[in-house]
Amino acid sequence: MRTAVLLSGKGETLQAIIDAQKCGHLHAHIACVISDRADTLGLERAQAAGIATAVIARAQYASKVAFEDALIVQLNAAKVELVVLAGFMRVLSVHFTQAFAGRILNIHPSLLPKFKGLNTHQRAIDAGETEHGTSVHFVDESLDGGPVILQAKVPIFPHDSADEVAQRVKQQERQIYPLVISWFAQGRLVQHNNSAVLDGKVLGAAGYASE
Ligand code: GAR
Repeated sequence: MRTAVLLSGKGETLQAIIDAQKCGHLHAHIACVISDRADTLGLERAQAAGIATAVIARAQYASKVAFEDALIVQLNAAKVELVVLAGFMRVLSVHFTQAFAGRILNIHPSLLPKFKGLNTHQRAIDAGETEHGTSVHFVDESLDGGPVILQAKVPIFPHDSADEVAQRVKQQERQIYPLVISWFAQGRLVQHNNSAVLDGKVLGAAGYASE
């Protein structure tokens, strides 16, 4: 399945997907990587892996719709069937989500619906949580919103720093995102009636891991 990865930053998430592909664990083909910033390590990682890249920066367009149209044109030109957000730090509008309805995945470093947005690890520590984690979900037009597919949990120990928790979460992200992408590419995972459906079974609010 022809897959595009959209990112804005370091690209560690992209690297995990590339590594899974190299090991034969990714049942999808990374057709292109698109960044909304020109100077990202994520683009360098893509180029090092021989993947086609493009930069589509919001500032180049007069409106959000025009920016999203440029993304849509690029994705359609690459015949992309699945859009994977990997640290893409922009909220997509309904204009984009409808163009790829049921075909956009995101990973967010919290146990959704908790801690949407930024600084999730510090906010979880400050809230006194003893458990934290990461969620893969289908994407709707709200911030870190859409049906959850799979979550991975990590502990927060007393006196943990946000960096320590972030490393623990990243390790889980490396495992679960390639897995979910593969489920989708194998036709095992679909979005239906605002729910995630795996192997014909509707997943609960917290996705597969909650069962
Ligand atoms: C990842 O941890 C991902 O969960 C998070 O951004 C990081 C990207 O890291 N995504 C979000 O916060 C989405 N709201 P990377 O640039 O090293 O791949």
